[in-house]
Amino acid sequence: MRWVVMGLVVALVAGCGTDPATVTTDVGADVGALIELPEPRRVGDHSLEEALAARRSIRDFSAEPLDDAELSQLLWATQGVTAERGGRTAPSAGALYPLEIYLVTAQGWFHYAPNGHHLVEVGVGDVRPQLAAAALGQEAVAAAAAVFVVTAVYERTAVKYGARAERYVHLEAGHAAQNLLLQAVADGLAAVPIGAFVDADVQSVLTLPADHEPLYLVPVGYPQTDGAP
Ligand SMILES: Cc1cc2nc3c(=O)[nH]c(=O)nc-3n(C[C@H](O)[C@H](O)[C@H](O)COP(=O)(O)O)c2cc1C
Repeated sequence: MRWVVMGLVVALVAGCGTDPATVTTDVGADVGALIELPEPRRVGDHSLEEALAARRSIRDFSAEPLDDAELSQLLWATQGVTAERGGRTAPSAGALYPLEIYLVTAQGWFHYAPNGHHLVEVGVGDVRPQLAAAALGQEAVAAAAAVFVVTAVYERTAVKYGARAERYVHLEAGHAAQNLLLQAVADGLAAVPIGAFVDADVQSVLTLPADHEPLYLVPVGYPQTDGAP
């Protein structure tokens, strides 16, 4: 039902041109501008093998922001739609897609809509310091240009798989996060997967709906190099 509503919103906004518009969806926290993302590329300069060999957790970032094309590519790698019937970059048990991705930048925080490949603004302002505090003071969260927050709605998978759903949802979060980490490497970016945080504090900082339960924070940015800001 949610994506039906979102689809209607997208159609309405698309019909009015590309200017950001204020939209309301039935996701409690999603009330804000709809931000179109550039089309992600399907070819790159690096092989999968090169990305696998180079991947390392990097926690020191430069202050350089990520542009829309970079954010678009990273979001697509995480949960982008790649098939007409809704298949995504990461597999999903029963094709039930329990994951919801949020993006946190210096400007604000946003909810990713895979169908339509756009963002919906959730809040304005830099909450990275508060998010870092929720992650037990981990500096990487405050310093990265962007923090990708993988959350999950367990009930979507539990409807079909019952108690097995918890396992499946966690496996899926791993698939999505690994896609994100490898895309970051392929794009010359630094990233680290973070599991140490207080769930309730992350939910509170990002005003997440109660059933969007945070599983992973992935700060991404340009690596800090000697002499860089
Ligand atoms: C489930 C999980 C949780 C993690 N949580 C954190 C974390 O909270 N903070 C952090 O700095 N790194 C975290 N890491 C990254 C690991 O420390 C890192 O993967 C490990 O040291 C191996 O280094 P590598 O990723 O460079 O191969 C986590 C990794 C995983 C898989």
